[in-house]
Amino acid sequence: MVQISHIPLYRTLTFKVSIALIAFFILNGVLLVLWNQADIMNDLEIDIQTAYRTTALEITEEIENPETDINDMSVFFDSLSQYYPGMELFLVAPDGEIQEHGSYVPSQLINSHVSIDVIDSFIQADTSDYPIEIAIPTATDLDFVFSAAALGSPTDPYAYVLVTMVEGGEDVVVSWWEEYGVILTRTILFSIIIAGFAGIIFWYFLTRRVQNVAQAVQNYRAGDSRFVLNDEASDEIGHVAMHVGDMMERIDAMFGELGRKEKMRTELLASVSHELQTPLTVMQGNIETLVEHREKMSEADLSMKLSAVYSQVRHMSALIDDMFDVAILETGQMRINAEPFPMVELVEDVLQSYALLLEQSKITVERDFPESIQTVNADPLRIRQVIRNLLSNAIKFSSPGGSIRITTEVKSNEILSFRIEDTGVGIAEDDIGKIFESFYRSKQQLEKTVKGTGLGLHICQHILKLHNSTLEVKSRLDIGSTFSFDLKLYKEVVTI
Ligand SMILES: Nc1ncnc2c1ncn2[C@@H]1O[C@H](COP(=O)(O)OP(=O)(O)O)[C@@H](O)[C@H]1O
Ligand SMILES: [Mg+2]
Repeated sequence: MVQISHIPLYRTLTFKVSIALIAFFILNGVLLVLWNQADIMNDLEIDIQTAYRTTALEITEEIENPETDINDMSVFFDSLSQYYPGMELFLVAPDGEIQEHGSYVPSQLINSHVSIDVIDSFIQADTSDYPIEIAIPTATDLDFVFSAAALGSPTDPYAYVLVTMVEGGEDVVVSWWEEYGVILTRTILFSIIIAGFAGIIFWYFLTRRVQNVAQAVQNYRAGDSRFVLNDEASDEIGHVAMHVGDMMERIDAMFGELGRKEKMRTELLASVSHELQTPLTVMQGNIETLVEHREKMSEADLSMKLSAVYSQVRHMSALIDDMFDVAILETGQMRINAEPFPMVELVEDVLQSYALLLEQSKITVERDFPESIQTVNADPLRIRQVIRNLLSNAIKFSSPGGSIRITTEVKSNEILSFRIEDTGVGIAEDDIGKIFESFYRSKQQLEKTVKGTGLGLHICQHILKLHNSTLEVKSRLDIGSTFSFDLKLYKEVVTI
């Protein structure tokens, strides 16, 4: 048998499904986060700007306070930016020139001029209009004005105050990871747990069961058929398990049957050789004597030797006939050709052929046949063989003066019962079970040198089995034996 390397299909499948589930959940989570991110960011920016605008307005009010020393602006700016890290303050002249500049994080001016139009439009604009973009004089990457205010008269200000933010200085804007990292981590963890559960369920309901079937087949292949498949579910795997179980049972039965037949054949062959050996030895002895001492032998001795040889030849012929029958019935080739025939006529015919033997053995026969024609539906040649064997047994195993009683009886309107009783030696209780075995002959009979093959009853039993009938026996040692069997009647009994 070819050893195929084992690829655990379902385990691989489970693994793939779990990975696919994890990937699906993560992708799902990321997409949801990204989708929501745009909205969240927008709202966040507006919140941040509102907060800083409030601060910027407070600062402007502070500058406009008469107590504030505007001339010492740089000191004021520096002190303010200590409280508001990240905030930058500019004092702008009415022509747009930056006069003062202060910030917590040191920064250089890259532009000394800002557009007054933009600042004016910001001051006049509705405060809810965010953001207003402006090129920031110190930064390259932050371009939102958070607040601006005019100093002095609103129509003719002597200067402007501009408040912006520099990036990194504020702690309100958090990084993408800080904002979404937790959600993403939870998504990943959740998806791993879900996929894990799905994997376990998959494994439990599919892999484990398929593995059981595979294990059973593997064990069976290794010669261990004790492993029982007990998956009784009505799904596909259950069906596979059931069919595999059935298959194993059938293979077992087939091998069992093969082994039994093989054993029987070997035993038969051994018995045949043994059975043929005895008559051949007897014949050989007699023929040797005839060859070597023929001239010196008397006529009576000569005919005695010859008849001994003849008797062995007849025995061998009977043995070979019986063995042929056994061979065809063992191989299942024995066929029954059923046809209607009158049973009593057949019995009379067989009795006729044994008339001389019966007379010589001084055995009387009693007939108990009802006065009606009993037509049975059976194979006449095979039934004749059965009756002949039963009658010859009854004669063989009876002593002179004994009697044999043959009965045919209609049981119900469909069955004819045949019975043959003798007053012979009977069969010991221990032997009754064995007399149907091939080559079985009770020792007691062998000692008395009664001729026989020990195949007769074995063949009879099979012939009757093929007629859906059985050969029954009742016997008591030294009292007698009764053999009986039933046959189907061909049609209803017709009275003569
Ligand atoms: N009518 C009978 N009375 C006593 N013993 C019998 C009778 N019929 C069969 N037996 C026993 O059953 C054995 C098997 O019978 P059978 O198969 O016909 O073989 P065989 O007639 O060649 O001995 C006989 O050897 C005998 O011991
Ligand atoms: Mg016999």
